[in-house]
Amino acid sequence: MGTGMTTKDHPEPTVFIIFGGGGDLTWRKLVPALFSLHLEKSLPEQVAILAVDAAELTDAALRHRLHDGAKQFGRAQGWKAADWAAFAEDIHYCHGDFNNPKTYAALAKRLEEIDRDWGKRAEHIFYLATPPAFFGVIPDRLGEAGLARERERARIVIEKPIGRDLESARALNATLGGNFHETQIFRIDHYLGKETVRNILAFRFANPLFEPIWNRRYVDHVAITVAEEVGVEHRGSYYEHAGALRDMVQNHLLQLLCLVAMEPPVSFQPDEIRNRKVDVQHAIRPIRHEEVHETTVRGQYGAGWIRGQRVRAYREEVGVSHDSITPTFAAIKLFVDNWRWQGVPFYLRTGKRLGRHVSEISIRFRAVPHQAFPPEATFNWQPARLVICIQPDEGIVLKFQAKQPGPKIRLRPVDMRFSYQESFKAPSPDAYETLLWDVMARDTTLFMRVDQVEAAWSLLAPVLEVWAASSPNDFPNYASGSWGPETAEGLIARDGRTWTLPTLLHEPPIDEKM
Ligand code: BG6
Repeated sequence: MGTGMTTKDHPEPTVFIIFGGGGDLTWRKLVPALFSLHLEKSLPEQVAILAVDAAELTDAALRHRLHDGAKQFGRAQGWKAADWAAFAEDIHYCHGDFNNPKTYAALAKRLEEIDRDWGKRAEHIFYLATPPAFFGVIPDRLGEAGLARERERARIVIEKPIGRDLESARALNATLGGNFHETQIFRIDHYLGKETVRNILAFRFANPLFEPIWNRRYVDHVAITVAEEVGVEHRGSYYEHAGALRDMVQNHLLQLLCLVAMEPPVSFQPDEIRNRKVDVQHAIRPIRHEEVHETTVRGQYGAGWIRGQRVRAYREEVGVSHDSITPTFAAIKLFVDNWRWQGVPFYLRTGKRLGRHVSEISIRFRAVPHQAFPPEATFNWQPARLVICIQPDEGIVLKFQAKQPGPKIRLRPVDMRFSYQESFKAPSPDAYETLLWDVMARDTTLFMRVDQVEAAWSLLAPVLEVWAASSPNDFPNYASGSWGPETAEGLIARDGRTWTLPTLLHEPPIDEKM
């Protein structure tokens, strides 16, 4: 699955040690993904999962809960009880306090026993699926216990938030780096594991067709939308301290921007790809404090309707304060100051409880330099757009002008569509399947390197500071089920542009719509 030269086709015997093994991420994402890999025979023959947590749990109770997670959230269908039984016998619960060195001594002993049983030295993948409060202590304790020492053998996987600002990210990276070498550290941004996101590189760099127009001469602007219908669900207490900018823009949306804007890589070596991406981050024009109000918009959802259901306001969610000023919506306008993109705005927006669950990148091309068609022909004319549909529809749509059938010349926009569902029979793997496989294969391409994380925080620092210093007095400022605050329309409308409605891959042909 990996893209780098370091990819190994047959992972070595491996032990996954999941800190927070009794928690939500393990239940919803990690174990369902590992189970899919097991069903596809992509796990090593010798594999074990040690779930470390502080709760009082037995192996049987843990396996029962994880079975339920695999059924509810797993991609794989039609598996049998025997499939689960064969997988689950390698899952074990280890009770332990993450702060206590004894937990790590016991772990080291357990890992030695596994090596003895297998007659091999297994590789160790330490996965931090814990609340962020433990992100600092676990790497230190692993280091003290000697479990981080062997570069080829030990890896650590960490989810965001990697800090909550530049300073805390630097401190956390220093702790990680003090115990593990950068090649052992896998910082997950799960968007990078999505097939449609990985396909951006294939689309751009396997087709010479698009490269000549992929620049300021032809592109008018780029709009990236990551819209969710869900609210904060059960994560209110985490989200209160994060908000949309930290939760989504600092990582997922900036990564999408980098993939669209980066220069062609010379090879698919992990660091070559990551260098090209970080070049983009360094080229993004710094946001001056005094510009923040003009170039960003924040919002918070009020009550409203989603798919015919009444839903409550953010301030009424569990774990959220009644006068919370945490933004659940963020929009930002950025420029990439280099030869390719000078003057082309990149508009980014993301929010919870928006009108539709959709993530897409819309690349709007410039208008024709001279409109030769008579006005009546161009009544419905729209500039061409290329839309990369990331989810839930997966594909790419090119929107361009065609002559409407009939005696007169009348133009109207039509679509050329590529749909994953129609083109490929095999369903796409879940992002976590791809990423876990890459961790086993030691391929860091799709993971965040230390400098990428810090560049993203340093870009957003002025926004976080200005927002923290001036409380919004209009929250909640958008209804659930809408497209966010009106000011987000203003952000793009001031430049004479608009956000477009989501592109539906399976839209009916024009005549059926009329
Ligand atoms: C996570 C955020 O990183 O991404 C969540 O913490 C968000 O708040 C989620 O809901 C969205 O991911 P996806 O894959 O559902 O688009």
